[in-house]
Amino acid sequence: MSVGAPGIDFRDPGLPRRLHSAFAGLPPVVALRDGFWFVTRYDDVAALLKDRVRCGTDIHRVRGYDERRPFGAGSALERFQEGLLINLGAEDHRRVRGAFTPPFTRAAVGASMGALVAGLAAELVEALPDDGEVDWVAEVARPLPARVFASLFALPDDDVEQLMGLLHEDTVAIDVLLDPAIVDEDDLARGQAAMLGLVTYLEELAVARLAAPGDDLLSWLVGAYREGVLSWDDVLTQAMESLAAGTSTTQTLLSGMVEAFASAPGEWERVHDDPALVRPAVEEALRWVSPALTMGRVALEDFSLHGCAIREGDVLQCAVLVANRDPSVFPEPGVFDVAREPNRHVAFGGGVHTCLGAHVARLEAREVLTRAVARWSRIEVLEAELHPTLMIRTYKSMRVRMVGR
Ligand code: HEM
Repeated sequence: MSVGAPGIDFRDPGLPRRLHSAFAGLPPVVALRDGFWFVTRYDDVAALLKDRVRCGTDIHRVRGYDERRPFGAGSALERFQEGLLINLGAEDHRRVRGAFTPPFTRAAVGASMGALVAGLAAELVEALPDDGEVDWVAEVARPLPARVFASLFALPDDDVEQLMGLLHEDTVAIDVLLDPAIVDEDDLARGQAAMLGLVTYLEELAVARLAAPGDDLLSWLVGAYREGVLSWDDVLTQAMESLAAGTSTTQTLLSGMVEAFASAPGEWERVHDDPALVRPAVEEALRWVSPALTMGRVALEDFSLHGCAIREGDVLQCAVLVANRDPSVFPEPGVFDVAREPNRHVAFGGGVHTCLGAHVARLEAREVLTRAVARWSRIEVLEAELHPTLMIRTYKSMRVRMVGR
């Protein structure tokens, strides 16, 4: 089996660092192996993510999936992955997403999470020195989304730190979807064991909420189970999906945003001088960082794309990161411009699957950026290390030097 497009080896641990350049200049559609395509142009990516006729997300529609069972037949990892919103067929997706959408609308996030996120961001930023060196990932980027999740689900902060460790093993294991050859058996076994740990933890908690509901999001999900809208597995999967989809991606955004500014120091001052730029700056950071490298869709019918014969059951990986650097849509895509307008990036995907937590992630980034530009005249990045995961890029650490105003 061939691994990767010409010049791209998914097993290269240095790949996450140079993904934009690695994929730049490739044809619009690249066959990575039989039935598995990478789509790299913005217009195609944006269209396919929304397309509900030619494409879907039901993982069982992927040719050979039910025979291969790449997550491990009967494992907790398989049970969880198959229940994710992003892997459900249209009907189940509508039901589950409908039940979990109300707390995540822009208005609901603003009303119920604004003060919480602002308070947590302030606490983390204020704990740092005016001048000095810290690990930005350990001090801000990892704890903020973890504590937001802990508050929303009413969990002790310490438990979430532990859950984040387990979650990392899952992030490693999902690369099996990109290419089974890049996840070795030990990684997969660790992913499966980690998922069992996560499910067990959340299930105990969900049982407790069934007996004594609160006003947290797990109680919300348990309430939908009580009303017969969600199954018990839906409850556990959605709790896990919020943890999985919401913490590592946001951590990557909060780290990558600082790295982007460090490479364009004038932009930091622009935001400092004009706070109205915080919002567009966060959108530009999303475009620039694109924490989720790629989003998969399965072909529901045969069709042709740029002369390539796509067959029903093929996987189309929509390369979000590459699309967000498409020069035909983003002039000077390699320039980090905090006032970029328009900026219709696809960092949160598109169509009915558009990221459920987008408003939460934006809020976290805005709160951190607002406080950071006020407090420091610059943040220099001394050393940044990424985990060698591909679907979701994550930072292991990022040593920074902050210089106070
Ligand atoms: C910077 C942070 C984030 C990024 C870049 C991100 C990115 C994405 C992307 C690309 C998708 C797939 C969309 C598609 O296939 O069209 C997605 C889906 C999803 N995200 Fe996020 N996400 C982030 C934060 C969050 C947060 C904070 C939460 C929850 C609290 C969350 C929950 C979800 C869920 C539940 C889905 C599945 C939606 C569906 O399939 O209907 N995400 N996200």
